[in-house]
Amino acid sequence: MDNKKLFFIILLVLIIFAVFSNITSKYFIPKQLETINKLYGPESFITVDNKSLGNQYNLTYGELTGSGMEQIVKYLKSKNICPSSKTFIDLGCGNGKTLAYGLVYGFKQAQGAEIVEARYAFAEKKRSQLEERMRERVQLTKSDIFNLPKNYFPTGSVVFVSNLLFPEETNQKLINFLSEVTPADVIIIVSKIPNNLYKLKLIEKIDVPMSWATNSKCYVLGHQSHK
Ligand SMILES: C[S@@+](CC[C@H](N)C(=O)[O-])C[C@H]1O[C@@H](n2cnc3c(N)ncnc32)[C@H](O)[C@@H]1O
Repeated sequence: MDNKKLFFIILLVLIIFAVFSNITSKYFIPKQLETINKLYGPESFITVDNKSLGNQYNLTYGELTGSGMEQIVKYLKSKNICPSSKTFIDLGCGNGKTLAYGLVYGFKQAQGAEIVEARYAFAEKKRSQLEERMRERVQLTKSDIFNLPKNYFPTGSVVFVSNLLFPEETNQKLINFLSEVTPADVIIIVSKIPNNLYKLKLIEKIDVPMSWATNSKCYVLGHQSHK
């Protein structure tokens, strides 16, 4: 085959791939989000007494939306970070819906930890009802964030924490904890930061749609040691 023919075949394959990816994101993603929102339903918004575990916790509920996940993935792609090579980790994952969203938007795996039994149990129940190829890639842990071991965090992960209402000292504890336990290349997205970022640095502020606001501020953090 001459070079000209080969060039046109490669071009054709690239065009088909681009058209297919476009169709996938325009049609299949909204369809999958609809299925997930239907599966989890309004009963997934589980409220509990916010102070039931003591003053160092705040168990107020609010959610990252499907478009919130889309924003996170758009941000990563704008930095040439491909979600398909990353594990999405939600610390305080509530009903676990963010993990399903993460997979819809192309993350390789999704992990979540949740301290409230009712939310964790609901997340497990819904995980078992996800289609097999998603179910197998979601891992849930009933745990206090601060009890998670170092090996919970794979290299190449994106950690998300919706900590807007966590008490001040808990947010400082969270930053210190993530500084110590997460790998150098981890990307951390939190909704609130304390003054002292310890071993982390602020990379950027981004707007992320949440259930309470369409443009909630989030802070992207990385390890100071990471270039
Ligand atoms: C604002 S909700 C966010 C839920 C989910 N991440 C989302 O964005 O859709 C925060 C969640 O963190 C959980 N949480 C708070 N403190 C925690 C802790 N120390 N360990 C584990 N989960 C915690 C709460 O129970 C709640 O489900």
